[in-house]
Amino acid sequence: MAPLLSPTDDARDAAAQLARLSGRDRHDIALVLGSGWSEVVTGLADPGTAVTVAAADLPGFVTPMAAGHRGTVTSCLLDGVPLLSVAGRTHLYEGAGTGPVVHPAHVAAAVGARTLVLTNAAGGLRDDMAVGDLVLIRDHLNLTGRSPLTGPLFVDMVDAYSPRLRAAATDAIAAAGVREVAGADPGARPAHVDVRPAEGVYAAMPGPQYETPAEISMLRTLGADLVGMSTVPETITARALGLDVVAVSLVTNFAAGVTGQPLDHAEVLAAGAAGSARLTGALRALVPVVARA
Ligand code: 6GU
Repeated sequence: MAPLLSPTDDARDAAAQLARLSGRDRHDIALVLGSGWSEVVTGLADPGTAVTVAAADLPGFVTPMAAGHRGTVTSCLLDGVPLLSVAGRTHLYEGAGTGPVVHPAHVAAAVGARTLVLTNAAGGLRDDMAVGDLVLIRDHLNLTGRSPLTGPLFVDMVDAYSPRLRAAATDAIAAAGVREVAGADPGARPAHVDVRPAEGVYAAMPGPQYETPAEISMLRTLGADLVGMSTVPETITARALGLDVVAVSLVTNFAAGVTGQPLDHAEVLAAGAAGSARLTGALRALVPVVARA
């Protein structure tokens, strides 16, 4: 089916600049690195292939506000696959509307990508999740109160997170053996258990405040497994643009009321930093497999 949406002029201009700077006229995969994932970008490129630009120097990007977001765009090859990575996303809570939030999805389409890979830091809502787990998003609840789309764009959201690519991503992450139990007593549990990443439903909240325990209990009742403040606007836009979407959450903390512990952003970033090598391993495995699936 023909896409319901075309990339914005800013996204086309950004893509033209990226083509000029990188010498690559298309990128097969675009990747958005969320909170805690930004450090991964340096480990993703085949040697000598990375070209990095400050996002602020490209049309349509605004400088990200949240700590842990770098604001760079990198073109590289990964296992020979042309990859465009955006490190540092813009969130709805920054108050600039949905335009800058979904700009990376438009740029993904403009550089010729067929697939958008989204990463985020999320709160875990399920008792069988551990901090440091990677979870593939199977479906979402858009609780942001808004849509990035306006007008008669009646986008189908069934299988918004491609089942085919999810299966390929699960196999790739499992084969890379990248899941381990973070914080486990090394004597008490094996370092690597159950290497197949779980799948879950991601609830997108507007933020910037974290949830109350009552809100978390509501989200569990609604069927959410993960909670965060991103990803959903980008997925909706990507589907309208005709892109396939794969999204991976890093569980950085338990949501309010699950453990009774207060939350802070530093904890979220620390979990990302602690998992950085594993996250790199996961994406190094996932991107080439998804590109060829
Ligand atoms: Cl618990 N809630 C939200 N909204 N975003 C998060 C989170 C929780 N943990 C990481 N990001």
